[in-house]
Amino acid sequence: MKDSPLIIALDVDTVEEARRLVNAIGHGADFYKVGMELYAVAGMSFVQELLGSGKRVFLDLKLYDISETVKRATRQISRSGVTFLTVHGSKAVMQAAVEGRGDSATRLLAVTVLTSFDQDDLADFGFSTPVSELVALRVRKAVESGIDGIVCSALEVAKVREIGGPGLKLVTPGVRSAGTATGDQKRVATPAEAIQAGADYLVIGRQVTRAADPKAACEQILNEIAGVVRR
Ligand code: C5P
Repeated sequence: MKDSPLIIALDVDTVEEARRLVNAIGHGADFYKVGMELYAVAGMSFVQELLGSGKRVFLDLKLYDISETVKRATRQISRSGVTFLTVHGSKAVMQAAVEGRGDSATRLLAVTVLTSFDQDDLADFGFSTPVSELVALRVRKAVESGIDGIVCSALEVAKVREIGGPGLKLVTPGVRSAGTATGDQKRVATPAEAIQAGADYLVIGRQVTRAADPKAACEQILNEIAGVVRR
């Protein structure tokens, strides 16, 4: 299980529901993503509970603030023992996070451009750079800043790998097995396609968390990617 690429997104609004899911998943996964919603109700105490029960945690807070604040918040979070923490992919934010992380084992992931953003959203910032160029620029800045990985869609993985090189951890949400509900995700790939394209980790939420048998849903995904060779 240590090498499993599965990260289950605990997108729920109570600690009880999160615990129920983690119990139901059992050995189906040992890596969980805690995002802003669950963090808002459960905070670091639930993160500590997960870590204490031997699970790995991806804390998806997408930090973005002045350098001093990012550095100090990252320092605190890194001390908790989470495996992954997300920050926005702007150079000052990434550099501050790298400084705050220091020599802890926490790995920092950058979000380049939110996938919900299109050219109109960039124009709203006053940017005329095409989205794909901004993603490429931010991947290069992430590598220069000492960031460990990038959150990117399966459809961006190959390009990001080409720019960022083999050492970068690529973590991809928006993954669905063939024949399962896509929900609001528009640009989906199957787990096998994402791994083949070069993803190191797959973030999967509803396919597992809304399954009648969440553990069986994890096992199905692990079967689908067994033997798939990463590019
Ligand atoms: O339920 P689903 O598998 O779509 O959940 C995917 C998870 O990945 C959610 O926690 C969502 O916030 C996150 N995510 C995403 N697309 C991105 C970045 C993060 O779906 N581009």
